Amino acid sequence: MRNFSYYNPTRILFGAGQIASLAQLIPSDSRVLVTHGGGSILQNGVWQQVEQALSGHWLSRFAGIEANPQYSTLLRAVKQARQQHCDFILAVGGGSVIDGSKFVAAAMAYPGEPFDLLSGTPIRRALPLGCVPTLAATGSESNGRGVLSHAGLQARLAFSAPCLFPRFAILDPCTTFSLPARQIGNGVVAAFAHGLERYLASPADMPLRDRQIEGLLLTLLEQGPKALAEPRNYATRANLMWCASQALNGLLTCDDTDDDLQRLSHELSLLYHLDHAQSLAVLLPALLEERPRQRRLLQYAEQVWGLRRGSPGQRMDAAINATEGFFRRMGLGTRLSAHGLDAEAIPAILAQLQREGPEQRREFDLDACERLLLRAL
Ligand code: NZQ
Repeated sequence: MRNFSYYNPTRILFGAGQIASLAQLIPSDSRVLVTHGGGSILQNGVWQQVEQALSGHWLSRFAGIEANPQYSTLLRAVKQARQQHCDFILAVGGGSVIDGSKFVAAAMAYPGEPFDLLSGTPIRRALPLGCVPTLAATGSESNGRGVLSHAGLQARLAFSAPCLFPRFAILDPCTTFSLPARQIGNGVVAAFAHGLERYLASPADMPLRDRQIEGLLLTLLEQGPKALAEPRNYATRANLMWCASQALNGLLTCDDTDDDLQRLSHELSLLYHLDHAQSLAVLLPALLEERPRQRRLLQYAEQVWGLRRGSPGQRMDAAINATEGFFRRMGLGTRLSAHGLDAEAIPAILAQLQREGPEQRREFDLDACERLLLRAL
């Protein structure tokens, strides 16, 4: 077992009605900036719950943090927070709102140019941040990481720091009832893909982690289709919300660093505006095909899909097909063509990877990335 450091200070309040606890979680003399996305929280009643819970607090609201949040939008949020002397950020929304709000919190506590924090200056301080996730997908509510898009640089920029862990996260599954089917599918596939990548990269001598990730994947296989079929099933939504949070809260990833799948999916989302999960659904099956077959893929075939007959090669092929089939069942395309992209889309992705430099690609060189993308057509 490799050495690791595990740290997760985020307090989780889980369950229906927990938004009412906000007043106890945020100091009463705080000046709170509530950040959110394009408007879903105004339509599904979540904003009203937040406003009511914080009726005794000073509140301001910043709307418009978009999916795959833009640096320029976040700078506007920083400007508003500075003008209004805000000292607490409350992010209400999906992973994009939470990631973006982490950057706002860091920029607020930094006297220099916010861009420094994306170009090598360590993030040492941040305003306190709390969050109310409304989409179960990325686990951003209980980790210290984020990723944003910079249109001017045509880049997705990742950042992380221990001070970016939210102080608390209120996980009320009812907030996810209003999700359209596309976002339900996205959430399940994102959590599954992140879990599977960790599983395949995990050292051979961590059976506890193997069983934890197998449990995560099996639960997603069981609960994901149920959520599509019965969108207002509370128990299903609750289980999915907890799965998504566990997939990326650091427990299953404590000795790993970033990976090729993440990087390629960010390029695809950046260039062709796919949702993060849509990119993962296209790339992961192709990546499993492209990679040399490893024992862990066989273990995945057996433990998660119950595939115990046939040669090892047949079982591994069947597991890849089953994974792709599951993503489709969740409503996601698993080929570039499903998003109207053909071979002409590939050179731009490769050029973008080349621009990033070779140190950004851990396992796949440019040729391997090209083969992978051709497989994904
Ligand atoms: O903007 P609004 O109107 O709120 O609509 C959003 C958005 O259009 C909508 N939505 C969210 N909750 C809803 C809802 N619609 C109806 N009812 C609700 N309850 O969903 C749309 C997508 O939201 P977004 O936040 O973009 O989705 P997600 O949570 O999947 O987050 C994706 C972002 O997270 C990053 C991705 O790169 C991407 O930018 N990631 C963050 C990670 C992390 N912090 O650890 C790791 C991930 O791998 C990922 O990279």
